[in-house]
Amino acid sequence: MNTNTNGNIFLVDDDRFVLESVTTLLSEYGFTVRPFSNGLEAVRQFVMEPVDLVLTDINMPIMDGLELLEKIRFLDKETPVVLMTAYADLDVAVKAIQMGAFDFIIKPYRPPALVHTVEKGVNYKRLTQIEKNYKIELERTVEQRTAQLNAALGEITHMSREIIERLTAAAELRDEDTGLHISRVGMYAKRLAQQLQLADDFIDDISVASAMHDVGKIGIPDSILLKPGALTVEEFEMIKQHTIIGERILKGSPHRMLKMGATIAASHHERWDGSGYPSGLKADETPLEGRIVMLVDQYDALRNSRVYKAAFDHGKTCDIILNGDGRTMPGHFDQQILMAFREIKDDFAVIFENSQK
Ligand SMILES: [Fe+2]
Ligand SMILES: [Fe+2]
Repeated sequence: MNTNTNGNIFLVDDDRFVLESVTTLLSEYGFTVRPFSNGLEAVRQFVMEPVDLVLTDINMPIMDGLELLEKIRFLDKETPVVLMTAYADLDVAVKAIQMGAFDFIIKPYRPPALVHTVEKGVNYKRLTQIEKNYKIELERTVEQRTAQLNAALGEITHMSREIIERLTAAAELRDEDTGLHISRVGMYAKRLAQQLQLADDFIDDISVASAMHDVGKIGIPDSILLKPGALTVEEFEMIKQHTIIGERILKGSPHRMLKMGATIAASHHERWDGSGYPSGLKADETPLEGRIVMLVDQYDALRNSRVYKAAFDHGKTCDIILNGDGRTMPGHFDQQILMAFREIKDDFAVIFENSQK
């Protein structure tokens, strides 16, 4: 559309006098008028340039006004089509409205009425265009905002996970050289939870929350935590406190993952037969996440050397967990979790070996 005019009008009539007089009239009112002596030419041109309104005669030899209306409606739903008709064609005009014509003008036309109808049609076209653009813009904005929101959420999730890892590493690094233990525990716990076919949310949470299991070690003095030889009974009692300290650090959070972290910190040394600490919980008195982390923590502890023991290989470690060695016993574990471990134990070896590279 030429923006210097009030609108681009296609005028179609086989009567040269009408073409000339309407062109002159509408031009005076600031419209750009493209005159066509038949509908066929108008349709050809319609697909090539923007049109604000089509004003057409009904009775024409090559393509009548209704046919032209139909063709334009097929090409474009919005451009208003105004038909010009003599009284005798009133039925046709009504039919045209039913077919989607914007309005009709009775010939011989009265100039003010014609100009008014054309202005009304052009405004209608502009409003629909504005509405259409607004919808497109709105959809684009919603799309952009959704993408930004998702990116921000992803960033926050990523950052909170990293903060958890770094904070737990601060506790863990004191008695472990690399801090890899905590990231492996997360991976084993995730794998085991998958094998147990637990809910996706649970799997997501445990893979992060399990890293926090030993965060309470931060409250244990180096002299005990890093002591080379055997611990006295009193010293071991103090070590046991890391579960309670960890729970105290993490509990009270409204966040699901931290809540689970608190539960795991409190319960990852409980045993199925009730011989664990700090509470001596039996069987499923220990929350599922605690029972899972208890096993995976044991696996990783056995694979590594500690101040009090050498590292075991995968085979020996599995043998100790599945069959016991006097110190660790199968009765310590939830049998269902132990069964799941038996099925996927080789994945644990892969996780362990990959973290060594
Ligand atoms: Fe622990
Ligand atoms: Fe641990």
